[in-house]
Amino acid sequence: MGFSIALAGKGGTGKTSIAGLLIRYLTEKRKGPILAVDADANANLNDVLGVAVTDTVGHIREEASETAGGRPAGMSLDEYFEFRVNQALVEAKGFDLIVMGRPEGPGCYCAANHIIRRYTDHLSDRYPYLVMDNEAGLEHLSRRTTQDTDLLIVVSDSSIRGLKAAERVFELVSELKLRIKRSVLIVNRANGEAINPELMNAIRADNMSLSGVIPSDELIFKYDLEGRPLIDLPADSKAVKAAYAIFDKLAIP
Ligand SMILES: Nc1ncnc2c1ncn2[C@@H]1O[C@H](COP(=O)(O)OP(=O)(O)OP(=O)(O)O)[C@@H](O)[C@H]1O
Ligand SMILES: [Mg+2]
Repeated sequence: MGFSIALAGKGGTGKTSIAGLLIRYLTEKRKGPILAVDADANANLNDVLGVAVTDTVGHIREEASETAGGRPAGMSLDEYFEFRVNQALVEAKGFDLIVMGRPEGPGCYCAANHIIRRYTDHLSDRYPYLVMDNEAGLEHLSRRTTQDTDLLIVVSDSSIRGLKAAERVFELVSELKLRIKRSVLIVNRANGEAINPELMNAIRADNMSLSGVIPSDELIFKYDLEGRPLIDLPADSKAVKAAYAIFDKLAIP
């Protein structure tokens, strides 16, 4: 099992953007391919990474359980599933992406999560790094999709509400004993390099380990509008520079 990093935090704070920048950082600065896992039902990590998705684990699971799904005679459901998941893996330069997708049909959610967990554990043996983008909220923690993680990056915007949501993530991690080795906070979309004193006090009061601040970057808005992948942002853009300085400090092995 490689070094695993997961993202969490309130909706719209920048989890997916930071996951994309981190994947780019690891492809540039570390050896070996990265397994990118999009565990958000509303998948969009592929847009940030600039790759097209052909299939999702949720869909494969549905198809495999509904019918024999074109399964060759003599192939067990498990073997077939693994074969199809391998087919759904998007191969790109320096990383591969697997997308969990939307749960289809009632009651599928837990099953799909359980399966992705099993196969990503299995898959991740082949990669020195795993980066998992999660949906907003706490579900992925309470469902334990995010556990056995080396580094959890909790993202907040520079609002007290964002920080409160981050605080709940930290609390839940310790309450549920999620075997997460280290959890850190990144404040994203800040107005400038620094954050205001009230926010800093709240971070200190709650003992959250702040790794750094990423300013709001108008170039990200521009790329978003033009439908360009954030992974192509220039190296000297504000957000990339700030994110890279934080990743350097995180001392990812
Ligand atoms: N530093 C930044 N400066 C400006 N815009 C940003 C920055 N970071 C992210 N954004 C923009 O904010 C929006 C939300 O970002 P993103 O999708 O990464 O958040 P998220 O936490 O993954 O959201 P969700 O909870 O919906 O998955 C996007 O439009 C993105 O382009
Ligand atoms: Mg997202």
